[in-house]
Amino acid sequence: MQLVKKDAVSWLTTLPDSSVDLVITDPPYESLEKHRKIGTTTRLKVSKGSSNQWFDIFPNSRFESLLKELYRVLKKGSHFYLFCDQETMFVIKPIAEKVGFKFWKPIVWDKVCIGMGYHYRARYEFILFFEKGKRKLNDLGIPDILEHKRVYRGYPTEKPVSLIKQLIEQSTKEGEVVIDPFFGSGATLIAATQLNRVAIGCDISDYAHEKASSRKNDRKTVS
Ligand SMILES: C[S@@+](CC[C@H](N)C(=O)[O-])C[C@H]1O[C@@H](n2cnc3c(N)ncnc32)[C@H](O)[C@@H]1O
Repeated sequence: MQLVKKDAVSWLTTLPDSSVDLVITDPPYESLEKHRKIGTTTRLKVSKGSSNQWFDIFPNSRFESLLKELYRVLKKGSHFYLFCDQETMFVIKPIAEKVGFKFWKPIVWDKVCIGMGYHYRARYEFILFFEKGKRKLNDLGIPDILEHKRVYRGYPTEKPVSLIKQLIEQSTKEGEVVIDPFFGSGATLIAATQLNRVAIGCDISDYAHEKASSRKNDRKTVS
């Protein structure tokens, strides 16, 4: 597992064309910042009593450069999964299509237990499913709602390793290259490593590097 400390787009520009088999990522959208300012998501605030450190936001105005780079580095015949909310989904879909991706559908991550919010409390998140060229999913029997319990008291917006493993198993074979340019706690990279894929990631924050490095030797989790 290789961890790079850099801006995501700058890092991607250093990777060769068509060198990556799968991207799974979860950038810090502007809309997250909005929820944080309103103060409904107190867990996301930096507080002395919390080990959580909030991170920088990746502005919507940078999505085109990010998506262009992701398209360039992915091989023809590959998948790209992007975690996002109901607001950012409408921003990203047209840009991703413009740079060349085929958009298939939003997959729903059902977190099983309800979370925060006032208007129908949050229980799901979207994972936008894109393709470059054509690649068949490994198991055509998997539904578009994936149930995995949310991670409690983890890195802000941390994703369960079991969920990411399911995506990796669907879209790669052993030995293929999986990247995450905003790795956070390192969930994508841990999942890829445990599945014997090559895991490479980038994050700009020291805290993310501490977290992901400390998990490098995590025992295999059951998916
Ligand atoms: C939503 S979190 C990712 C959480 C991750 N999916 C997990 O399961 O832990 C987004 C990450 O992007 C990082 N980040 C913010 N701006 C960045 C940039 N310009 N380049 C690279 N990383 C960035 C933050 O430090 C943060 O760790």
